[in-house]
Amino acid sequence: MGKKLIKNASIVTESEVYKADVLIDGEVIEAIGENLECPDAEIIDAAGKLLLPGAVDVHTHMDLDVGIARACDDFYTGTVAAACGGTTTIVDHMAFAAEDVSLMHQVDEYHRLADGNAVIDYGFHGVLQRMNDSKLKEMTQIARSEGITSWKAYMTYKPNMIDDEWLFKILRVASEEGIVIPAHCENDAVVETLKAENGATGNRQPKYHPLSRPAGAEAEAVSRLLHIAKLAGEAPAYVVHLSSGAGLLEVEKARALGQGHFGVETCTQYLTLTDAEYDDDKEGLKAIMSPPLRKQEDCAALWDALAMDNIIDVIATDHCPFIFATQKQMGKDDFRKCPNGAPGVEERLPVTYSEGVAKGRISLPQMVKYLCTEPAKIFGLYPKKGAIVPGADADIVIMDPDAKHVLTIDDMHGANDYTCYEGFELTGRIEKVYSRGSLVVDDNEFIGNKGGGSYLRRGTSSLV
Ligand code: URP
Ligand code: ZN
Repeated sequence: MGKKLIKNASIVTESEVYKADVLIDGEVIEAIGENLECPDAEIIDAAGKLLLPGAVDVHTHMDLDVGIARACDDFYTGTVAAACGGTTTIVDHMAFAAEDVSLMHQVDEYHRLADGNAVIDYGFHGVLQRMNDSKLKEMTQIARSEGITSWKAYMTYKPNMIDDEWLFKILRVASEEGIVIPAHCENDAVVETLKAENGATGNRQPKYHPLSRPAGAEAEAVSRLLHIAKLAGEAPAYVVHLSSGAGLLEVEKARALGQGHFGVETCTQYLTLTDAEYDDDKEGLKAIMSPPLRKQEDCAALWDALAMDNIIDVIATDHCPFIFATQKQMGKDDFRKCPNGAPGVEERLPVTYSEGVAKGRISLPQMVKYLCTEPAKIFGLYPKKGAIVPGADADIVIMDPDAKHVLTIDDMHGANDYTCYEGFELTGRIEKVYSRGSLVVDDNEFIGNKGGGSYLRRGTSSLV
């Protein structure tokens, strides 16, 4: 692969926007500077365009097997969609194993699913389930041997849920070994009781999904996680998909009390969509995900926190798509039977730019921080990923900041038959995406290769 010289661009970092040229040699960024020359390089003129680091989505569920259904995007279609949305790295959350097996079982399974299929670089978060002492040791062994330096704990979803005793034990080891523990925070007892009561009284339409998973159930579990992480030696816990103002208050409280070493993620949908999506008994199935969408005031609180810095660290997606015409219909008579999850990996950067930056809610550097740099730092990928700096992988997005278009499923690339953002009028348009120096997306067309992505062994987290 030859050299490429991107001229006249506005480069966006987590702290500034500045004008410079970028020289790419093969797969990496060789130099950044003013008036760079390179006679044998292909010249790409990016005058008037933004140059963003390829975005890093640290919360996807490609090919997720949830028992009753399988997410419709596999590692090929899902990463094609990611690339077309300006994401050049994913860190995927594994499914639970159906049986009580070693932790390595799912690592092997995920290599089988992803290797040779993913079109962009990818890593995995391990999944903790049905814990015992030997699995606790295995977590550390695999972190070292496979570069899987984050392991997820679900505080709900029996029988795989991690109870408080194991959460404490896991976090203690995580603190000693420098392993990040992403946690799904919902109070299981509250959620299961409300689901059962709603089901029993015939309240089975989609609108009972958010009523069964209230914001307080999230807030309680966030608080518990952060307290237990502190007791475990300020362990590097990481709250996934924070959805509510109530949960946010618990995060702010821990930050105000000086607790360090933990990270917080929200997702595009919790910033831009509300529980009004559930009002329609049919269409509402599209937005059945856990945690559910909340109120307008929750969206506003999350945006405000992002604008303030140092409260929330990451905007991810929890991309977990199921086909509306078939898979989501499993819940048409009972929301509890609908496979949980929604698509979002392709929409994240365009929607965050348009709703966040173009509408003045966050700055451009803040967007890069939340979509690119912080996720790479927290999950041990920086500076190879998440920033446009010499020596980094040449993962680059060229974006027209002013172009307008309407988001519609017809222009999208995943396997799904809907987007939750249908009809959104967007400002900003991705023109080109480079993955390790190769042009993989040009004018909304995927031109990369199946299997072009490489497995990422991850290093130490910035939370440690
Ligand atoms: O509804 C969701 N988010 N499905 C994916 C699995 C999970 O809980 O993250
Ligand atoms: Zn998830």
